[in-house]
Order: sequence, then C-alpha cells, then structure tokens
Amino acid sequence: DLKSKVTVVGSGNWGSVAAKLIASNALKLPSFHDEVRMWVFEEVLPNGEKLTDIINKTNENVKYLPGIKLGRNVVADPDLENAVKEANMLVFVTPHQFMDGICKRLDGKITGDVEAISLVKGMEVKKEGPCMISSLISKQLGINCCVLMGANIANEIAVEKFSEATVGYRESREIADTWVQLFSTPYFMVTPVHDVEGVELCGTLKNVVAIAAGFVDGLEMGNNTKAAIMRIGLREMKALSKLLFPSVKDSTFFESCGVADVITTCLGGRNRRVAEAYAKSGGKRSFDELEAEMLQGQKLQGVSTAREVYEVLNHCGWVEMFPLFSTVHQICTGRLQPEAIVQYREHKA
Ligand code: NAD
Ligand code: 13P
Repeated sequence: DLKSKVTVVGSGNWGSVAAKLIASNALKLPSFHDEVRMWVFEEVLPNGEKLTDIINKTNENVKYLPGIKLGRNVVADPDLENAVKEANMLVFVTPHQFMDGICKRLDGKITGDVEAISLVKGMEVKKEGPCMISSLISKQLGINCCVLMGANIANEIAVEKFSEATVGYRESREIADTWVQLFSTPYFMVTPVHDVEGVELCGTLKNVVAIAAGFVDGLEMGNNTKAAIMRIGLREMKALSKLLFPSVKDSTFFESCGVADVITTCLGGRNRRVAEAYAKSGGKRSFDELEAEMLQGQKLQGVSTAREVYEVLNHCGWVEMFPLFSTVHQICTGRLQPEAIVQYREHKA
C-alpha cells in the first residue's frame, strides 16, 4: 500500500481544527488515504453521551470546537493503540502536559516506517534538562518528528480565515514538504524551515509572553506597555533558544512561529485572557480555578511553561538574564503581584 494513512493524536480545540485541515487535503490528494483517524480522550458529556459517539454521529466536536464540521472522513477513536496502529503519519496535538503519558503508552507500539509531526507547544523538564516535545516523541517512539507552529488561533482557522504557519524540520526536506502538502490550504499557508528547535521553542516560549501580556491588559496599562512586553519577550525567546540550541537561526523569529505568534497570542489567545482575569482579581483567584471556569476543558500552556522555563533558568544560573520569563513565573505562583511585570530593571539578555 503506497498511500499514506494519517492519525491525529488529540482532539481539543486546535486538534479538531488540525483534523479538519488534514481531512480536506486527504480527500483531494491521491497519495493519502481518505480516512483520517482522530484519537479522542474519551469523556461523557452532561447528557450521558460519549464524546466519541457524538463526533462520529454529528461530525462535530461539540465540546471543543462546536459548530464546525470536521469532514465526513474523520473517524473518532477512543482507543489510542487502535487509532495509531495502521497509520504511517502521526500528528500529535494535545496539551503538552499529557504528552509524556501518551508517549509511554505508545512505547513499543509504533513499528515500521512512521513519520511524526508535533503541533504541541510546550516542553518537559527532565533531570538532564529541558526536553522539547518533538524530542520526547522521537526518543520514546524511535521515529523522526517535525513540528508545526505559527500564529494559529484555532477558532479563526476553523472558519477559514487566512493565516500562516511554519513547519520545522531536522533533516529531510522531502518529509517536511509532505507535511506542508498535508496541511496547506488556500487559507492556511505553510512554510518549511530547517530549524526544528527554533520553531518549537518559539511556539513554546511565546505562551509565557502571552501571560505577561494578559497581566498588562488586566492592569489596563495600555498599548505601549503591551508592545514593550512583546518586544522584551521576543528578545528573551531568542536569547534562551540560542543558549539552549546554538544552531537556532535568527530568521526563524521572523517566521509565523516567531513574531506573528507572539502578536496573535498576546492579542487574542487563551493564555492572555486568563492572565488578564488573574490580574483583575489582584492575584486572589488561582489560575487553576480561572482555567476551569473560563476555558471549560481547554487547557492553558503558559503557566506550566513558565514554571518549566524557570526550572531550567534556575538550574543553569540564568534567572537574572531573563527577567520577564522569571517574573511571569513568580507572579503565577503568587510570590509577586501582577504589577511586578513592569517593575524589573534593565537587563542584559
Ligand atoms: P485544548 O486546550 O482544547 O485541550 C483540551 C484537550 O485535552 C481535549 O481534547 C481533552 O480531551 C484533552 N485532555 C484532557 N485531559 C486529558 C488527559 N488526561 N490526557 C489526554 N488528553 C486530555 O487542546 P488544543 O487547543 O488542541 O491544544 C493542543 C496543543 O496545541 C497545545 O500545546 C496548544 O498550545 C497548541 N495550540 C493551540 C491552539 C489553539 O488556538 N487552541 C493554536 C495553536 C497551538
Ligand atoms: P492560546 O493557547 O493562548 O490560546 O494560544 C493559541 C496559539 O498558540 C495561537 O497560535
């Protein structure tokens, strides 16, 4: 069988949109099987029905992407092992905190010629240091893994508003081109970049900047302050990425995954929105409580990423070089007030 078979591992807000993009292309492109499997973390909705059954019946993810048809060729599957067993192209797109467990469950289950791509924005911190999610997938499953990141608020792409994205690849440009082909539509323009670490660090670290932008909004500090936070954040993103991986390219920060994702997430993202509410509460309500109340099952990545980044900075003795990243973490843990986001001094990152 020469046709590629795609499985999407994850079915949240972005996972569902990714499945929709892929499903429309799988139907059009002769080199792909029509059917796209989507692994669903099963849950029972208040009406007693299983989410998987509803998706397969209505073709909609009524909980995480209501009102959008995914495409009839999307098949929801609650069994992770079964969902991946026939696929040779795996798309990982879950909140980053679940990826370690998912990789452990799939350990030894992936055989043959399989390629992966991660849409997950985040990292794991192991004893040896930071481990990007694409490396976690690569190492645990023994497969090559590209990444796709960009200025991609899922709800906007779901209604087919134009946006761009960046595919980062390690070695094979040919494989990157296959992923570009699988995701590209007239309203979703994907560019391959030979810098997997740079692309993935951009997608990961901008979530911390978005939390800072949300504090600024909550404190009603205005546009200049927010622009300053975005600029300082972008500079810390670049500095930390290059310290961790000297091969990271400057040009990557001008791709969709860099400056464009900082802008869109700081203007319209979930991290921004919940951080705004946190600042408005004067730090009195917890992020966990606000996340549950405001996002209804969707997950924030910025608060845990700020903690993970802080662990790395602390371990390497770099805390002082990254005042914005460090301050975000200390505000999230309640050690500093939201106002502290603009109360650090000139720094030399
Ligand atoms: P989401 O925020 O909608 O999260 C909900 C998903 O997590 C649901 O599918 C839920 O079933 C699943 N889940 C809950 N508990 C779980 C568990 N214990 N194990 C496994 N899964 C569990 O997810 P999303 O928006 O698809 O985000 C996935 C990744 O994509 C994140 O890293 C995010 O930063 C990134 N991303 C999101 C967007 C966006 O606009 N939503 C855009 C670009 C990138
Ligand atoms: P939020 O998780 O803050 O909504 O950001 C989504 C995103 O990554 C847009 O590119």
